[in-house]
Amino acid sequence: MKKKFIYVFAVLATGLIVLNACRHEILHPGNGGSGTGGGGTGGGTGGGTGSANTCSPDTVYFVNDIMPLISSNCTMSGCHDAITHADGVNLTTYDKIVRYVSPGNASGSKLYKEIIRTDGDRMPPPPMPAFTTAQKTMLQKWINQGAKNNSCVGRCDTAVFTYSGAIKPIMDAKCSGCHNPNNLGGGIDVSTYNAVKVVAQNGKLYGSVAHQPGYSAMPQGSAKLSDCEITQIQKWIAAGTLNN
Ligand code: HEC
Repeated sequence: MKKKFIYVFAVLATGLIVLNACRHEILHPGNGGSGTGGGGTGGGTGGGTGSANTCSPDTVYFVNDIMPLISSNCTMSGCHDAITHADGVNLTTYDKIVRYVSPGNASGSKLYKEIIRTDGDRMPPPPMPAFTTAQKTMLQKWINQGAKNNSCVGRCDTAVFTYSGAIKPIMDAKCSGCHNPNNLGGGIDVSTYNAVKVVAQNGKLYGSVAHQPGYSAMPQGSAKLSDCEITQIQKWIAAGTLNN
C-alpha cells in the first residue's frame, strides 16, 4: 500500500518536472532546444481565460504563427502541396519547410528570399496577394530566432470576441490565404467582414473550425484552432456577427 503511494507520488513529481522543463524552454527560446516537437498539435489545446500563458510576446512560434501562414498562402492545391509540389517544392510539414531555411540567417534563406522579391517571380505568385510587411517580418524573425519547431498556448482571451479584436486576426493569419477573391477555396471568401458574415450565418464557419460532422475540417493543412479561438468565433456568432 505504502509502496504504491510512493510510486504515484514519483509519477506526479516527474510530470511536474517535465511540464516545467517544457515551459522553461518555450520562454527562453535562445537555449538551443528545438521546441516541443509537437508539430501538429501545439496551439490546438487550452488557451482559455485564466489558463497559463506560455507565449512570449518576443517569440515567433512555428505551430502558432508560421505553419498557418504557409499553409494558407503556399500549400493550396496546385501549389506546394504534397500532390502537386510545384517546382519540386513541398511545404506541408516542418521538416520539409526547413529545407529552404538557413536557421539564424533569414537573408540567406531561400524561403524568405522568394517572399521578399518584388518582381513577377515573387511568392506567392500574382494575382495572389504578396505577404504583408508584418507577415514578412514575422517569417524573418522566426528564421533569425533559429527556425525552431516550437509552439505555445494561451495567447488568446475568450472575453474578446469582436470582429476586429478576434475574428479578423484569426482569418488573416490562418484562413484568408485560401479564401479570398483571387483564391476561393470551395467558393468560400473570409477575407472581409461582409464575406465572413455569410459563412458565419449559414453555420459553415463554426461547423468547419469546430470539426463538426458534415463540414470540412478547417484550417486545411494546419493544427485545429485552439479551444479559445473556437469559443471566440462561437461567441461572436451568438452575439449577432457584428462589425465591431
Ligand atoms: C490550405 C488552404 C485552406 C486553408 C488554410 C483554409 N481552408 Fe477552408 N477550405 C479550403 C478548401 C480547398 C475548401 C473546399 C473543399 C473542402 O470543403 O474541403 C475549404 C472549405 C471551407 C469551408 C466550407 C466547409 C463546408 O463544409 O462547406 C469553410 C467554411 C472554410 N473552408 C473555412 C475556413 C476557415 C475559417 C479557415 C481558417 C480557420 C480555413 N477555411 C482555412 C482550403 C483552405
